[in-house]
Amino acid sequence: MDQITRQISEIGVVPVIKLNNPERDAVPLAKALCDGGVAVAEVTFRAAGAATAIRLMKEACPDMIVGAGTVLTTAQIDEALAAGAQFIVTPGLDAELVKYSQEKNIPIFPGCTTPTDYHVAYKLGLEVLKFFPAEQSGGLAKIKAMNAPFPMFKVMPTGGISLKNLGEYAKASVIAACGGSYMVTADLIDNQKWGEITDLCKQSVAIVKEARNG
Ligand code: 3PG
Repeated sequence: MDQITRQISEIGVVPVIKLNNPERDAVPLAKALCDGGVAVAEVTFRAAGAATAIRLMKEACPDMIVGAGTVLTTAQIDEALAAGAQFIVTPGLDAELVKYSQEKNIPIFPGCTTPTDYHVAYKLGLEVLKFFPAEQSGGLAKIKAMNAPFPMFKVMPTGGISLKNLGEYAKASVIAACGGSYMVTADLIDNQKWGEITDLCKQSVAIVKEARNG
């Protein structure tokens, strides 16, 4: 496992962020996450200005690991890299995007949920997959079932993760980290509730720690 992926895995949770106003929100949000012990963010290309957000977050918090999510094209990988992104997340498994990221030496976590996806991911030499959308695709039970024929993978489930089920996921050794938007919802960001975001991050880190130690 590469250094960036290892660091993400140590933190254990990855906020999935959609910023409508990066100039206003990227820097205070980055600080709020870091204050809560979650020095990592997946900034999705679902919103225009994602690259700006990545750049601003990295400038404000250089030690924070900032990646690009919902990446659909090689042009977006270029844009993310130019902004300082350190990992790429794609909603599905696209061999072209995987190979392109590998050439550029940036970790990529493609969304995989089926045995066929896992087969292709194995041939592409991947070690860590995004399992998306997690809850809607069978959740932890499916992740564990997939781990039987494919024990070489660790996964990052996202989709339906919350404070309620985070501990259950984090307990499983197949889980590298859990992603989610529950600590960075549109309401929290649009209303600049930075203290609440920090608090949710602290709670998440505590849940992961307890789950892993228990
Ligand atoms: C993602 O892109 O990873 C998901 O949209 C995050 O899912 P959530 O909003 O249910 O946490």
